[in-house]
Amino acid sequence: MGIVFDEGLIDEIKSQNDIVDVISKYINLKKTGQNYKGLCPFHNEKTPSFIVSDEKQFYHCFGCGESGDVISFMMKLENLDFIDALRLLGEWAGINIDEISTSKKEKEEIYRKNKIYEINREAALYYYRNLVKEKNKGISYLFNRGLCIQTIKKFGLGYASWKGLNDHLLNKGYDQESIFKAGLVLEQKDKNGYYDRFRNRVMFPIINTTGKVIGFGGRVIENKEPKYLNSPETIVFNKGNNLFSLNLAKNEVRKKKQIIVVEGYMDVIGLYEKGIKNVVASLGTALTKNQANLLKRYANEVIIAYDADIAGQAATLRGLDILKEVGCGVRVVRLSEGKDPDEYVRKKGKEAFIKEVENALSLIDYKIMLSKEGNNLKSTEGKVKFVKSITQILKELKSPVEIDAYIKKIARESGIAEEAISTEIYGNTKKNKEKKEIGNTNKYRSKHDRYTNKYNIQPLKPIQRIGYIEAERALLKLIINNNKFFKRVKEKLSFEDFLDQSNSEIAKRIYELYENTDNFDLEVILNQLNIEQIKVLHQIKSSIVPEENLDKALNDYIKTIQKHKLVERKIYIEQELKKLEKEENKSKEQIVRIRELCIDYEKLLKELKEI
Ligand code: UTP
Ligand code: MN
Repeated sequence: MGIVFDEGLIDEIKSQNDIVDVISKYINLKKTGQNYKGLCPFHNEKTPSFIVSDEKQFYHCFGCGESGDVISFMMKLENLDFIDALRLLGEWAGINIDEISTSKKEKEEIYRKNKIYEINREAALYYYRNLVKEKNKGISYLFNRGLCIQTIKKFGLGYASWKGLNDHLLNKGYDQESIFKAGLVLEQKDKNGYYDRFRNRVMFPIINTTGKVIGFGGRVIENKEPKYLNSPETIVFNKGNNLFSLNLAKNEVRKKKQIIVVEGYMDVIGLYEKGIKNVVASLGTALTKNQANLLKRYANEVIIAYDADIAGQAATLRGLDILKEVGCGVRVVRLSEGKDPDEYVRKKGKEAFIKEVENALSLIDYKIMLSKEGNNLKSTEGKVKFVKSITQILKELKSPVEIDAYIKKIARESGIAEEAISTEIYGNTKKNKEKKEIGNTNKYRSKHDRYTNKYNIQPLKPIQRIGYIEAERALLKLIINNNKFFKRVKEKLSFEDFLDQSNSEIAKRIYELYENTDNFDLEVILNQLNIEQIKVLHQIKSSIVPEENLDKALNDYIKTIQKHKLVERKIYIEQELKKLEKEENKSKEQIVRIRELCIDYEKLLKELKEI
């Protein structure tokens, strides 16, 4: 947001908020060795992989990869921006950052934001009082839609009559410009005045996870257009970064770890009325990546329950892709009866809806179902199209077991032989299939063929290095927790042979660990690594190595590393040689020796290739 705080202030706040104390407010931490350990608050797990280092004042989860310091912990857990996280931590430490923050610009920004929050709050209160003060159209509309007064209160629903808000806010002492900036009024161009944006509408305040009113949605009571009117984007309201009702759903979600996403305000409220409270809505736009990340923070599994129309289906597919992209588990409810979740739950009740959620389809099953509906499975052409579209989807799956299960299913449903579907996915021969599984090692080999080109003395290009770094990481992954592999690797490579610096640091600790303890516990080395290296360690742990032919893979990785080292050496010597040749009083003897050395290296490389 362009606000720079004095480093000293940030350090002060951090030092006053010990990370172990802060995180202990949210989860149970147990001391294990130098570190603390607990169940990760950012993803669902049964065995703790969330580590907090007292010494380094940071946390890292080996399950989901989240890591950071006390400020980023608060940002992620409470969904705060940097300043709000700092403000809260400051409060806990008795430091008021709004008073201290040094730059004038920062102060102004905070002040302006707070003012808009206040104005929004006052407006919500005004709309609510309007709704309940007398029996008006608004309240009877909401009652007619099956809501009870408790639910209306819980969501802080309100009613905007024809006018009155602008005057009310002015009377409360707020200035016209701020009221305008909050998005609550529109300019009356000809008269040089302002009038209420929301008129004759039932009002839905949008509240963020810290309980601040950031905007509104307003629904017409009669059949008018637009059906819903929303606050414009303001300095406190960004539609793509928020979800309606996450403030209420988040506590519910913490327990269940499952969150239901619906399209409309009334879907959220209708479900809540029936006791289903882990529900949010995506504010009238397609689900954004930020929203998907927000969902992932609170839930393990997202259930999409959009309207049962074509638009809902398109939005579902987009939502699925986005949620998958951010790595969120996701399933889809397809409502058989009723247009949307609100109508469904009113018609069929809570239990029926919960059943629909339980039976929600996985991403693959949903796509299979759509494809089935889109093709006529009675015709041969339809069957072929169906199978082809599904194989495209199955190719994205990583687990062969999963692919196999789907192949069987598709074969059953289409009447096409399993073998044929399998060929469609893996290619023609069984050999192809094996190749695919150990594809990584093959990749390295072809890349390294290029290294042996004796004319190529350019510094290594990044793309060539990637193969090498991957090989190092794969090797590290294999030796973690496998003493047998470690012994074999140690015979061929020292930790210094790992060229990538992070890899080498990690290798060093792993080697030491094996040497010094019988009990291999990776966490012991955490405090010896910096955050960058811990992230690399995490990548290593979650990287995928071949499941079969491990011996061969191990050898291939070692070879790749050795080869790379030789190539680097050779390039270095060739460069030295060039320099030497240019010198005026060069020693012929030396040049001959170095040339011989180059040839030796080439031979070595050739031999390595032939092993
Ligand atoms: P729907 O038209 O499905 O609304 O739009 P709904 O929630 O089922 O409404 P009811 O039941 O008729 O009251 C879904 C969401 O899309 C946004 C709103 O957020 C709405 O809740 N929307 C819809 C708008 O922003 N503007 C519109 O004109 C219509
Ligand atoms: Mn509806």
